[in-house]
Amino acid sequence: MSETRESERPALPMKGVPQPARDEVLDLPRVHISTHPVIRHKMTALRDKNTPPPAFYRLVKEIGALLAYEATATLHLEDQQIETPLQPMTGQRLAGGIGITPILRAGLGLAEGFREVISEAQVWHLGLRRDERTLQAEEYYNRLPHQVNLQVAYAVDPMLATGGSAIDAITILKKRGIPRLSYVCILAAPYGLLKLSQAHPDIDIYIAELDESLNDRGYILPGLGDAGDRQFGTF
Ligand code: PRP
Ligand code: URA
Repeated sequence: MSETRESERPALPMKGVPQPARDEVLDLPRVHISTHPVIRHKMTALRDKNTPPPAFYRLVKEIGALLAYEATATLHLEDQQIETPLQPMTGQRLAGGIGITPILRAGLGLAEGFREVISEAQVWHLGLRRDERTLQAEEYYNRLPHQVNLQVAYAVDPMLATGGSAIDAITILKKRGIPRLSYVCILAAPYGLLKLSQAHPDIDIYIAELDESLNDRGYILPGLGDAGDRQFGTF
């Protein structure tokens, strides 16, 4: 009988790790969980295992646009003098630039949805890869500019599982001195949400839906599977 080598065994890094229940994280400060019926409707199609990659990507983008609408509701404005075809008036524009940081690669579809709402936003790409054996995130790509003139940056990633990638992304963005940071995801597990909120209590967190738990491999349940693979067809 052949023995299974250590490297071939499935890693179960979350096995036996205590996790908070969903109810325990519902009232965390600065956490916004969407109640929008159109988001709920699209989430069901997104989770369905029969939804193929092109439709999955389109849904991520559409949910991204809806989340962008919710996450930008408290942005600051400044006055702007303009002339309509009929007379001068004082209008308002967004005070300071907006940054979107897609956490590669699954954050790309979400960022596209954000750009449909704020087309003038700068896009700062950040590549973080989760090691599936340890669940530690490692940085592999960084195109954050050194000159920053933004009122807010949104780190966007569909999945908040153990929170490792989100915590690292916000830590990296904080070093750029942006006055206000928000994190936006489609699905969160209570474990990762609590970790992110504890590590960065000074940011706003926007979520489409809060799920139940993580399985032993660190996947969100009931979840939607691997958000990167399902967007880009790399099964
Ligand atoms: C996924 C997901 C998050 C991360 C979440 O990305 O898009 O970035 O895992 O897990 P965590 O909360 O436990 O860190 P992955 O590293 O699989 O890369 P991908 O986007 O290239 O698929
Ligand atoms: N990353 C994913 O894409 N899905 C999960 O459920 C957890 C992490």
